[in-house]
Amino acid sequence: METVAQHIPVLYQEALDLLQVRPGQVYVDATLGGAGHARGILQRGGRVIGLDRDPEAVARARALNLEGLQVFQANFRHLLEVLRQAGVDRVAGVLADLGVSSFHLEDPRRGFSYRLEGPLDMRMGEEGPTAAEVVNTLPLEDLYRLLRDLGEEPQAYRIAKAIVEARRKAPLRTTTELAQVVQKAVGFRRAGHPARKTFQALRIYVNDELGALEELLRQAEEALAPGGRLVVLTFHSLEDRLVKRFLKASGLRVLTKKPLTPSPEEVARNPRARSAKLRAAEKESL
Ligand SMILES: C[S@@+](CC[C@H](N)C(=O)[O-])C[C@H]1O[C@@H](n2cnc3c(N)ncnc32)[C@H](O)[C@@H]1O
Repeated sequence: METVAQHIPVLYQEALDLLQVRPGQVYVDATLGGAGHARGILQRGGRVIGLDRDPEAVARARALNLEGLQVFQANFRHLLEVLRQAGVDRVAGVLADLGVSSFHLEDPRRGFSYRLEGPLDMRMGEEGPTAAEVVNTLPLEDLYRLLRDLGEEPQAYRIAKAIVEARRKAPLRTTTELAQVVQKAVGFRRAGHPARKTFQALRIYVNDELGALEELLRQAEEALAPGGRLVVLTFHSLEDRLVKRFLKASGLRVLTKKPLTPSPEEVARNPRARSAKLRAAEKESL
């Protein structure tokens, strides 16, 4: 029987509690995905403007026909533009649950998984280069920096060199081809899959995840009504550092001195929650 992918929302209760949903108010879910968190906002009486850059996520969310949910296919870096289109000026909260969903990870066609054979794509939306274009064309030095800076990969140079050598023979086309090149270059001497950080780096680069996040945070601060709340869930240290620094420098009041993390029970139920960190802040009331 074919198993249908589903996405379990991470830190669900915590995120909704921090958002402090009030009936009739408008909230942005900047990362709609499987609409798990969005449903929670709707159940508490909020209205939701939901964004996702992925056309497949958008189609799935529209098909749910949830009352009170307005769906936009858009990169969250264009949040203010979307709000203009929706005819909304200020919102009571913005939620962002970053990264890819289980729909992405479990679909070999999308090329996110080093375990499932598929084309080296990794684009969440329809824009940007594919991961194949990146690994087959970037000069060695740039590839090295990408793996070092976006993957925090200690063996970045060794891997970059192995990729350049492999592509001289034939361009890398699939996820498993790339995973094998990395594995051959660094072996299995570490915890987790040897290609994990390489895949993370490529995904962040292909989707300009950090650039988009910075723009989202700035626009979210602007879009919040006084007393409105920003809740952000991150899944790796580069994102979390960016959010932490932004909040510190922003005019928002930070509500999470330390980020919230999932309980061991949640991680056991949903291993994807493992590296989650939740930070929240509030716009001062007038
Ligand atoms: C972790 S999932 C969200 C899951 C959702 N909270 C749920 O409960 O089902 C992240 C989603 O955000 C989308 N996404 C990531 N970066 C985006 C961006 N810059 N703009 C819009 N959507 C983005 C992805 O396509 C993915 O569907």
